[in-house]
Amino acid sequence: MKMWAGRFSEQNAKEVDIFNNSLHFDKVLYKYDILGSIAHVKMLSKQNIISKDDEEKLVKSLNDLMKDIDEGKVTFDEEYEDIHMAVESILTDRIGDSAKRIHTCRSRNDQVALDMKMYVKAEIKEVISLIKNLLYTLLEIAKDNTKTIMPGYTHMQRAQTVTFAHHLCAYSEMFRRDVDRLKDTYKRTNVMPLGAGALACSTFDIDRDYVAELLDFDNITLNSLDTVSDRDYVIELLNDLAIIMMHLSRFSEEIIYWASDEFKFIVVSDKYSTGSSMMPQKKNPDVAELIRGKTGRVYGNLMAMLTVMKGIPLAYNKDMQEDKEATFDSVNTVKQCISIFTGMISTITVNEDVLKEACVNSFMNATDVAEYLVKKGCPFRDAHFIVGNLVGKCVNEDKFLQDLTLSEFKEQSGLFEDDIYEVLHVTTGMNKKNMTASPKEEIVKRYIDEILDEIK
Ligand code: ARG
Repeated sequence: MKMWAGRFSEQNAKEVDIFNNSLHFDKVLYKYDILGSIAHVKMLSKQNIISKDDEEKLVKSLNDLMKDIDEGKVTFDEEYEDIHMAVESILTDRIGDSAKRIHTCRSRNDQVALDMKMYVKAEIKEVISLIKNLLYTLLEIAKDNTKTIMPGYTHMQRAQTVTFAHHLCAYSEMFRRDVDRLKDTYKRTNVMPLGAGALACSTFDIDRDYVAELLDFDNITLNSLDTVSDRDYVIELLNDLAIIMMHLSRFSEEIIYWASDEFKFIVVSDKYSTGSSMMPQKKNPDVAELIRGKTGRVYGNLMAMLTVMKGIPLAYNKDMQEDKEATFDSVNTVKQCISIFTGMISTITVNEDVLKEACVNSFMNATDVAEYLVKKGCPFRDAHFIVGNLVGKCVNEDKFLQDLTLSEFKEQSGLFEDDIYEVLHVTTGMNKKNMTASPKEEIVKRYIDEILDEIK
């Protein structure tokens, strides 16, 4: 018989039982459900709402149950509806009346909010530690590549010379912001909901601050209606995770084309590549492609939750049970993607010669030539036009700026002197860029040291 069956005179349709049931996915919350119940029981006893004897029995059997579930000794009966009912039912089977007191001053509505907040807090910590590991890996590769020049692109056209380290550090900035966003979400999740009851608290003199303290929450929620109907923190987490996937997906896209025969910038290790069932020569970057692909479902989960919440009147409505699968799926997907991406990137080989070739055989020094003229007094817009003419001439004659003679330079501007050839050298321009954020070796090295120190 269902715990809430008192006012019913008929059984639910079998279909309804199956439809309503969330145990098969929300059972992953068991640890938080039990820890939350232990704190609740301790508070009830402290406030003399249940006896010391009940407290002892309940705390012991909750701990025993946790251990039994940890060890795989509990098979959840699908009759139980959800994890909250399952825990209470098993306790009742095991210790009888004391267990029937556990739900005093509590509803599944504030209970599920507590469980989800505890889950989100724990998972945020896990995702942050995975990102830090990725950051560490990226920065270690960057350290070895502060001299490895490569083309920097805009519009996928060679633009100005940067280094492989500088390119990796662009991603480290994105992942640092991801950590920041997660920490911010953590702050708003760290507010304890228990005590709101179903929607309007209870008539007992409960101590919510005590529960918050036991469960390591910074604050308690301030409005009971909001408490049981707030899923902002879930949406924020889903958003943070979607942005992480967007970053991983962009990076994956680069890995994919860098590894192509057209680019040959890197080699992805065999460990992180797969073959074709038909074409014997193929070595495919499936890992990077799958990460790019899985970004779709993580975006989808965010959209799903925004949509679920958009028309729900206060306070709790069952629609909100839909938060679980979306959240669990995004969390699990993102954790797996960060971890496998870290493995993949840590085993790539960088083709320094190919990257250098791509820089030398290019017009990426054109901006430096324009700035050379400006330093000699030419207005920038005129300098831009002059160098543009020179590039046009080179394109027609199938050569690069460094192949032109001094008299060819002088035909365009008398300001050109012999020192132009130093400017045309592939690393000269980059090495003159001394400001923060520049690709220059020393600046990138300093950045790497600072960030390695920060994530320690
Ligand atoms: N399984 C439910 C959920 O995930 C728990 C809360 C149910 N509350 C209720 N009154 N039906 O949202």
